[in-house]
Amino acid sequence: MRNLFVILLSFIWVQQIRALTSPWSWDCKNERCVKTEIKQGQEDKAISLEACELICPKETGLWPKPTGIVKLSNFLVPINPNQIEINSKRTGILTSQAAKLFKEDIASRVPTARDSSNGRPLSITIFHTEPDVDKLTLETDESYHLVVKSDMGGKIEVTITSPNFFGSRHGLETLGQLIIYDDLRNQLRIPIEANVTDKPAFPYRGILLDTARNYISVDVIKRTLNAMAASKLNTFHWHITDSHSFPYVSKSRPELSQYGAYSPNKVYSQKDIEEITEFARVRGVRVMPEFDAPAHVGEGWQKTGYVVCLNAQPWSTFCVEPPCGQFDVTQDGLYDALEDIYGDMKDQFDVDIFHMGGDEVKFTCWNETKSIVEWMSKKGWGRTEEDFLKLWNYFQQNAEDRLYKKFGKKVPIIMWTSGLTKKEHIAKYLPKDKYIIQIWTTENDPQIQDLLDGGYKVILSNYDALYLDCGFSGWVTDGNNWCSPYIGWQKVYDNHPRKIAGSQVNQVLGSEAALWTEQVDSSSVDSRLWPRAAAMAETLWTNPTTSWREAESRFLVHRQRLVRKGIGADALEPEWCLQNENECPIKKL
Ligand SMILES: *[C@@H]1O[C@H](CO)[C@@H](O)[C@H](O)[C@H]1NC(C)=O
Ligand SMILES: *[C@@H]1O[C@H](CO)[C@@H](O)[C@H](O)[C@H]1NC(C)=O
Repeated sequence: MRNLFVILLSFIWVQQIRALTSPWSWDCKNERCVKTEIKQGQEDKAISLEACELICPKETGLWPKPTGIVKLSNFLVPINPNQIEINSKRTGILTSQAAKLFKEDIASRVPTARDSSNGRPLSITIFHTEPDVDKLTLETDESYHLVVKSDMGGKIEVTITSPNFFGSRHGLETLGQLIIYDDLRNQLRIPIEANVTDKPAFPYRGILLDTARNYISVDVIKRTLNAMAASKLNTFHWHITDSHSFPYVSKSRPELSQYGAYSPNKVYSQKDIEEITEFARVRGVRVMPEFDAPAHVGEGWQKTGYVVCLNAQPWSTFCVEPPCGQFDVTQDGLYDALEDIYGDMKDQFDVDIFHMGGDEVKFTCWNETKSIVEWMSKKGWGRTEEDFLKLWNYFQQNAEDRLYKKFGKKVPIIMWTSGLTKKEHIAKYLPKDKYIIQIWTTENDPQIQDLLDGGYKVILSNYDALYLDCGFSGWVTDGNNWCSPYIGWQKVYDNHPRKIAGSQVNQVLGSEAALWTEQVDSSSVDSRLWPRAAAMAETLWTNPTTSWREAESRFLVHRQRLVRKGIGADALEPEWCLQNENECPIKKL
């Protein structure tokens, strides 16, 4: 009898050790998670760090912070990851694919060798009011409403209501964040009740990736898209060609990539592009190609004779970085080639907007090319700035005609800020009903105000906050690269469109973080982009009135989320700061 008692006691003891894996709990005090030792007999009240970080902060742990109501129960219950049912009837193929991704994501978080059968089943129902929307545009309503309830039998019921797939996908993303891994109990848990209404503040939330300065593998592009989806970004701006290389395989002009790719393997085949655009669409992301011209061309065009100043030296006379190259815009054959490329891109990318680049044209290159100067002289033009602007505009008009011809309509065109977008020229050359201007100069550039006053819609990529390649060594000289210093996530977060555009903020479609890849390749894309691009994601989704300080703890949690999804996101602080919320910043909240 006494032996049995001892056995029973030790059994209970072992069970308790097994039940909780750590002596630490995080208690929610004044909306902050405080690390506390678990008292004997209080094991069932112990809260894991992930759980605490979800329910304790005033804004909850969601990233980006929802813009509508967020109500979460403090009571978390275990779910059974093997019993997730998603009812997405009449919502279309995209929704079933997104549902599959959701299940895979949850499955990937199930702790190893743990019996989850005591968790509750999860039943998700998705409703769409516009079931046929399968393409993201600047007008797409990305809102959603998410409700979590428990039914009488203990089943967890989730309802996601949205106008269309692009909203409900965000809803699934939020649901994924509501399900946390409780490492004290080795379980996945969810608040027993939740009610979230949400929609983004800005319609264009992008990342630019340059795959021409250095080639970026298809896998890394996909990983980038995964991280974008996790942060509710929606536009992958693909700077796919430049003067350095031409990895884009054009169906009608295959010789361009044959001559212009770094190697036969460093190309994006039609199959690669098809795969990437579909991969993106299921994750709520549009893939928009940029065909940058008339500068930023070179490799690949050797046999055509349409590029002048190719690798001209000294390069700084003819372009902004080596190798130089600019289209000979006087040649009629060039426009046939462009028409072919635009047509190929239209078929492959199927987008509502198109990027024509248009940055950093150097007039010296054209001015030093005899045939171009003669052609201009025959037209009765001189050789002044104004004349070369006319020449550039001649190119733009012809290129625009060919683009519209292939798209069959006046697709909105995005162009970088340049000499052509200056106040004194823009209205004449780039009318506001056709062009959207992407700003890359600094936030205090007076051109921004001019563009807003001129009624232009703009996208912000001001390099002082959104060029994520800044702050490394120089590569055409010693010292640091041109746009140093490194931009911290805090600056990215605080780059509010309203700060830059003031009362004209309604003309800002959104922002885009740019990763130019002179000093980046597949091995370093993740850590340059992440988690910093996710800071911009919240600024655009939430349009917060608060600064990075209020967002810090949640951001550390989101960075963990990205790492869990296999993204090599940079560490921002010692893990101690994540576990001891708000103890690290110098000026505490
Ligand atoms: C969610 O919250 C909204 C606003 O408070 C409320 O109208 C709605 O009834 C709530 N839904 C549920 C299912 O609790
Ligand atoms: C082009 O070259 C001519 C001859 O050297 C020079 O007079 C003219 O100023 C140049 N134009 C521009 C825009 O630099």
